Amino acid sequence: MIARVGSKAEVRAAVAGIRATGSTVGFVPTMGALHDGHLSLVRDAKQRCDTVIVSIFVNPTQFAPGEDFERYPRRIEEDSALLQTAGADLVWTPSTDQMYAPDAQVTVEPGALAARWEGEVRPGHFVGVATVVAKLLNVVQADVACFGEKDFQQLAIVRRLALDLDMGCEIIGCPIIRDSNGLALSSRNAYLSAEERAAGLSLPAALEAAHAAVGLGERDGRRLEAIMREAVAAHAGDAMALDYAAVVDPSTLEPLERVGEVGRAIIAGRVGATRLLDNRALTSA
Ligand code: PAJ
Repeated sequence: MIARVGSKAEVRAAVAGIRATGSTVGFVPTMGALHDGHLSLVRDAKQRCDTVIVSIFVNPTQFAPGEDFERYPRRIEEDSALLQTAGADLVWTPSTDQMYAPDAQVTVEPGALAARWEGEVRPGHFVGVATVVAKLLNVVQADVACFGEKDFQQLAIVRRLALDLDMGCEIIGCPIIRDSNGLALSSRNAYLSAEERAAGLSLPAALEAAHAAVGLGERDGRRLEAIMREAVAAHAGDAMALDYAAVVDPSTLEPLERVGEVGRAIIAGRVGATRLLDNRALTSA
């Protein structure tokens, strides 16, 4: 069975042992309830590094009161078996007490990249993410850490964090893995009924509509946003409550007036009690 550790000291000792053999270390931070999206990151990390460490920690500080922290799926045994098959070498499953001192005070302020979109809908979320990611990266001291483009804003913030705080770890962005219908895989998809899942498909449908419009020459950011909103309404009606549908610069995440060389469509909304997000490149650049 794959080795599993809880404390930071055990992780540091394991990494020291790996380093002593001259091996490189890849790292994939997760909150568990693993699916093929997570496992694709593990496989990518394993291609790049000799050894892969995966953390599973449902981080309380990135959930606001009233969000789904309590009901977030927890399946450590199943996850460990999946990780073993995907080629991970070590699973780190800290408890909240092991992760945070009771009197912890210092947090990481992620700056302008966190201001809009998810940051606006979920105030404080990215402070929680940036802080825990900094802590995880500091403990593991990996050569490479893999994050999914599925959480596009999170990936941008983590890249900035690694750069600005000199984490000494290369951040790799990995493509979005989808189910056969096109729905981006997410641990939260487990909450969806069949009808809700169908409404969730309005997000990739909207991204597809925007992508197709760009292919036909549409470049105007506002018009592309309108195309996405119309596609969501046509596919899901009121069943999808959009939080935002936007066309942004992939580096700054600021809205784009016109799609030029690059442009990213980002979209998020609620189906029933479940939040879903998705995004897609609008050009091949
Ligand atoms: P979690 O939602 O478990 O996701 C862990 C990693 O898997 C993230 O980098 C996420 O972008 C990636 N991922 C999720 N679904 C994916 C998909 N369908 N395709 C590709 N990658 C996918 O994101 C978090 O956890 C947390 O915020 C964390 C970074 C662990 C900090 O607590």
